[in-house]
Amino acid sequence: MLIKTHMGVSADGFISSVDGRPALLSMPTFVSGESHGHPEFIADCGAVVMGRSTFLPAVGGSYWPWSGLEVFVLTSQPLPEATPAGVVSAADPAELLALMQKADFAGNVHLVGGQQTIDAFRQIGALDLLGIVTLPILLGDGTRLTPAGSAAQYLRLDSTRTFPDGAVEQIYSIAAPLT
Ligand SMILES: NC(=O)c1ccc[n+]([C@@H]2O[C@H](COP(=O)([O-])OP(=O)(O)OC[C@H]3O[C@@H](n4cnc5c(N)ncnc54)[C@H](OP(=O)(O)O)[C@@H]3O)[C@@H](O)[C@H]2O)c1
Repeated sequence: MLIKTHMGVSADGFISSVDGRPALLSMPTFVSGESHGHPEFIADCGAVVMGRSTFLPAVGGSYWPWSGLEVFVLTSQPLPEATPAGVVSAADPAELLALMQKADFAGNVHLVGGQQTIDAFRQIGALDLLGIVTLPILLGDGTRLTPAGSAAQYLRLDSTRTFPDGAVEQIYSIAAPLT
C-alpha cells in the first residue's frame, strides 16, 4: 500500500487561492475526474485520505467524489451527520494509518490533501509519493503546498509528463531529510 498525492499546484507554489478554491479549478481545461492524469493516477487506488477541511465541502452535496473508494478523514472532531456510512476518521495520523492498514481494500491510497494533512503524513514517514501537477498559472497568494515550518526534504524525481494545456505532472519519491 502506497500513500500518494496528486496535487494541482500553481507555478508560484499554491494549492488553493486565498478563498480556498483548489488551484486546478482555475484551469479552463480542468474536467473533474477526467483531466490532468487523474484516471491513471486513481486507477490503482482503493482508498482516499484527507484532512477535515478538504473533506467537508463534499459532504451533503449532490455529487460524492469518492464512489467505490474507502474514505479516511484526519480530524479531531465528529464527522457531520450527512457523512455517508463507512467513512472512517481519527484524530492522529498514525492511528488513521493503522486503520487504513487494517481496512479491507486493495491497492494504494490517494492522499487528497490539504497542506496540513500531507505534512502530517510526511512527518510520520507515511507519504510514499509526492505527485504534483504544476499548472501554468500564478495565484499570487493562497495556501502553499507545505505549511510554514514544515521539514526540509530531498525528493527523487521518478517521472514527468506534460499535458496539452502546459501543466506538468511530476512524481517524486520521498528521499532523505535535508539537513
Ligand atoms: N490543489 C489541490 O489539488 C488540493 C487538494 C486538496 C485540498 N486543497 C486545498 O487545501 C485547502 C485545505 O488544506 P488545509 O491544509 O487547510 O486542510 P486539510 O489538511 O484538508 O485539513 C486540516 C484539518 O485536518 C486535521 N489535521 C491536519 N493535520 C493534523 C494532525 N497532524 N493531527 C491531527 N489532525 C490534523 C485537522 O482537523 P480538526 O481541526 O478537525 O482536528 C485540521 O483542521 C483547501 O483550500 C483546499 O481547497 C487543494
